[in-house]
Amino acid sequence: MNGNLKLAIQKSGRLTEKSLQLLRACGLDIENYSDRLIVSARNYELDLLFLRDDDIPEYVQDGVADIGIVGEDVVIEKEADVEIIKRLAYGRCRLMLAGPEDRNIPELDQLNGKRVATSYPKILSNFFRNNKIDAKIIQISGSVEIAPSLGIADYICDIVSTGNTLKLNKLKKFITVFDSEAVLIGSKNLTSDTEKFLKLKNLILRIESALNAKNSKYLMMNIPKSALQKIREILPALKSPTILPLADESMLAVHAVIPSEMFWEIQEKLHLAGASGLLLIPIENMIL
Ligand code: PRP
Ligand code: ZN
Repeated sequence: MNGNLKLAIQKSGRLTEKSLQLLRACGLDIENYSDRLIVSARNYELDLLFLRDDDIPEYVQDGVADIGIVGEDVVIEKEADVEIIKRLAYGRCRLMLAGPEDRNIPELDQLNGKRVATSYPKILSNFFRNNKIDAKIIQISGSVEIAPSLGIADYICDIVSTGNTLKLNKLKKFITVFDSEAVLIGSKNLTSDTEKFLKLKNLILRIESALNAKNSKYLMMNIPKSALQKIREILPALKSPTILPLADESMLAVHAVIPSEMFWEIQEKLHLAGASGLLLIPIENMIL
């Protein structure tokens, strides 16, 4: 056993590529993992464990991995004794009830007495209990979407992300049971191992910086000096904008960090206020 921090991620699935992207954005040098179960980062004391997502909460709970990246849906379903350290704002999906396309969409109470196939029996039975529905839950571990066509269930309750899987299986969704996204989870025992805990704190800082950077852009523009007050009112800068003189003394350059999604909302206002030469630049890292 080396003293490396052990991070479990999904072996192959919706979260794999995005989790690797996030870790690389944190400055970790990770080789292409191909079929290996464990890969060490070249420039950080961290081992990546590639596991089935369903197993990750338990492995983190038992200390096989110190931390893990997995869907919140799986964490809740497995009722593992782990801590959610950080929500990661990717891998958003919904656990939804769905049924055959060619049948009418049922009201919730029409599910009474029906069979619903799912790999999320705990979340679904809670949902039924809260809504006072008495349906039969058929637990299936994979390929839930084929249950209706096999005749073993009337409806399914499964993860919907793009919706392609439902479409391919001629199913349509009708009620959301749970909203999920990727989360970073940690073992509750980690505090006792100080060195690992310090490594984890550093990794969390890097993750926060990478997430901030992903959601922010650096905006540069030129404005007439007289428009400065107006432009400042429009800008949702994280801190006050940088203002620089230009060779043309009647003009200024203004630089500011803005939330990415805000650009298209404010660009027209900026133009109207006299801004020109707008440049929007990605940010690699951002420590607040
Ligand atoms: C879920 C679900 C579907 C797919 C839906 O699987 O079981 O197969 O995602 O995504 P779509 O709406 O984009 O088609 P998940 O990634 O959780 O993998 P797993 O079932 O192998 O754990
Ligand atoms: Zn899974």
